[in-house]
Amino acid sequence: MTDTTEPVLSAEGLVMRFGGITATNKVTLNLKKGARHALIGPNGAGKTTLINLLTGVLQPTEGRITLLGEDISRLAPHKRVKRGMVRTFQINQLFDSLTPLQTLAFTVSQQHGLGAGWWKPLGSNAMVVERCAQLLEQFHLTEVMNQPTRVLAYGKRRLLEIAIALACEPRVLLLDEPVAGVPAGEREELLQTVAALPADVSILLIEHDMDLVFSFANRMTVLVNGTVLTEGDPEQIANDPQVKAVYLGHGEEGHDAGPPQGMPAPSGGSAANEVASVGATKHG
Ligand SMILES: Nc1ncnc2c1ncn2[C@@H]1O[C@H](COP(=O)(O)OP(=O)(O)OP(=O)(O)O)[C@@H](O)[C@H]1O
Ligand SMILES: [Mg+2]
Repeated sequence: MTDTTEPVLSAEGLVMRFGGITATNKVTLNLKKGARHALIGPNGAGKTTLINLLTGVLQPTEGRITLLGEDISRLAPHKRVKRGMVRTFQINQLFDSLTPLQTLAFTVSQQHGLGAGWWKPLGSNAMVVERCAQLLEQFHLTEVMNQPTRVLAYGKRRLLEIAIALACEPRVLLLDEPVAGVPAGEREELLQTVAALPADVSILLIEHDMDLVFSFANRMTVLVNGTVLTEGDPEQIANDPQVKAVYLGHGEEGHDAGPPQGMPAPSGGSAANEVASVGATKHG
């Protein structure tokens, strides 16, 4: 059956060249409403570059980007945020001296046009207080809300980063490796919190951890050397011979070119088995 849902975010024929390197090669990608869409691919495939193009950090050499039906190709990054597209970064970026509560109060206040008054006693605006409490609760940050961000465990910092992104009330959330560097014991919490976001937030997730990818995504795009190798639902991707070849490091010639990255050798058998086996290996 054809899916007729309009994409919330659409990239058409995006090209990005850095000198002689084509980091993004005619990439077309549609993020559907409510999607849990994973963007996967080896290191250097061009995943972050694509996010930088979508968010306006980089201007594409060619191509067009549409957000909620409007061409945003030439729009400045902050205007794209205003229109509902919010990202997190591969490297954590936070105000270290502020507490999670202060950081969120600042963001929520900005979001509601109360920017000039964010420093007032935190109890002075009931709406801000309520929204902050909600976000702190949702992201398991309540118990550390008054600690300076710099002393927080890395996993909590990443949760705070996603909470900040959500405080901007996104329609589209772009997550660039949210669990990169997070201790194994903290990944699960983060994974579940992200998975539980409301369906009116459409999400594009970049992730090397295949456990997270396969438990999260209902759609996947595989990027290799700046080019979309394939797109499909998780089962299609897990069974795609081209995808297996890339993740097994066989390359085009079919010889063994090194350690598997992310995806292990499929054990053969059913698609479910293959998804399970794909989910069994983590990126280091
Ligand atoms: N500002 C830049 N100037 C020059 N080359 C760049 C720049 N940014 C990225 N590249 C190159 O573009 C290619 C894609 O890089 P990108 O960071 O998008 O990959 P990635 O898929 O996010 O990789 P990773 O999984 O390691 O994060 C790489 O060859 C990289 O060296
Ligand atoms: Mg990257």
